[in-house]
Amino acid sequence: MHREIAKGVYYVGVDDHHTELFENLWALPHGVSYNSYLIVDEKVALIECVKEPWSAEWLANIREIVDPSKIDYVIINHMEPDHTGALPDLAKVAKKAVMVYTYKASDMQKSFYNVPLREKIVEDLEELSLGSRTLRFIHAQFLHWPETMMTYDTQECVLFSCDAFGSFGALNGSHFDDEIDMRMVESESRRYLSAIITSYLKFIRQGIAKIKGLNLELKLVAPSHGPIYRRNPMWIVDHYLEWSSPDLEKNCIIIYGSMYGFTYRIAMMLKKQLAELGVEVKTHNVSYSEMSRIITDTMRAGVIVFGSPTYDAFPFPRIQTVIDEMETKRFAKRPIGLFGTYGWGGGGIKKLQEQLEGLGFSILDPVISVHGQPTPQEVGNCRRLAQVIADLIR
Ligand SMILES: Cc1cc2nc3c(=O)[nH]c(=O)nc-3n(C[C@H](O)[C@H](O)[C@H](O)COP(=O)(O)O)c2cc1C
Ligand SMILES: [Fe+2]
Ligand SMILES: [Fe+2]
Repeated sequence: MHREIAKGVYYVGVDDHHTELFENLWALPHGVSYNSYLIVDEKVALIECVKEPWSAEWLANIREIVDPSKIDYVIINHMEPDHTGALPDLAKVAKKAVMVYTYKASDMQKSFYNVPLREKIVEDLEELSLGSRTLRFIHAQFLHWPETMMTYDTQECVLFSCDAFGSFGALNGSHFDDEIDMRMVESESRRYLSAIITSYLKFIRQGIAKIKGLNLELKLVAPSHGPIYRRNPMWIVDHYLEWSSPDLEKNCIIIYGSMYGFTYRIAMMLKKQLAELGVEVKTHNVSYSEMSRIITDTMRAGVIVFGSPTYDAFPFPRIQTVIDEMETKRFAKRPIGLFGTYGWGGGGIKKLQEQLEGLGFSILDPVISVHGQPTPQEVGNCRRLAQVIADLIR
């Protein structure tokens, strides 16, 4: 099913309610949409394709408006296969279409698919006339791949922003911000940004500065996942700006793992002590919290605290996974608190400390390493750590 979203601009994207993990990593409890847009002017331009298994549904949406053989341009803002997997199927029926993309996308296209369509490589801010309207291409390097660009319809003032300003969550026929529960959009777009783009926060801010510098009138922000913003197109831009800010939040997150409850009880004690000191504190049990939620809550937390039992002389395996994410996602450096329990020789907490210091994080004193149940002195140490954290956050 298609829908006209502006004069001559049609939504022809699809909902995915089948994929459980986006990129086979991030949970999709509400699905996800692969947005694609068709512009019908003197020339016909298609913006983005969809993920490969949805090509038949997508081509059917296009056929409701035009025969795909009439498509003049396929504008590919980004080569990731959630937006290009269906390109080979399109190429079979849109034989005269010219692929429009950046120089770096050209190289990727050839190595990914090598479809028998002609290509047009566009420079930053280059324009392409479709007849009554002109499209302008805005390179957006590392938002979130090196070849990424955005496309702007200068007549209808629509910014096709690709993954930037995107959100998890299928659309279910409600395409616009004024048709969807915005509390859900807020949490799903923040989780999307945190999972997909956290490694490139600087590029989000550069991209937004570039868009603002171009003084584009924005009637619609139309990303490649999630809702289209028309009631308040700047809502998502401003939220992306806030979520990518290098300023840390005045809060603390405790991420812990626990097999039998020893470490868990210390996590809860520390949480209570922090709360009594007026610190806003969230907790995640690494075994039950989905990773993208942990990343979302951790990426800008003022202080991070890890709690881990020793497991075969190492930290709890899933705690290790969070630290790997913090490294690859280039988390801003900040103080980290550590506590843990052990049954005999210990060592998990010491290894965590060495590793985090090696990554450039500072470790708060005291580090709490408990043999079984905490002694009264260790309970006092916990309280001291809570005080140190409270003082830092204030
Ligand atoms: C599979 C497994 C491996 C463990 N490996 C170690 C170890 O190498 N060194 C150690 O001191 N304790 C080890 N322990 C003991 C735990 O670290 C200790 O019981 C801890 O307090 C458990 O905390 P939890 O209840 O929060 O999981 C191990 C326990 C389990 C179940
Ligand atoms: Fe992407
Ligand atoms: Fe995407």
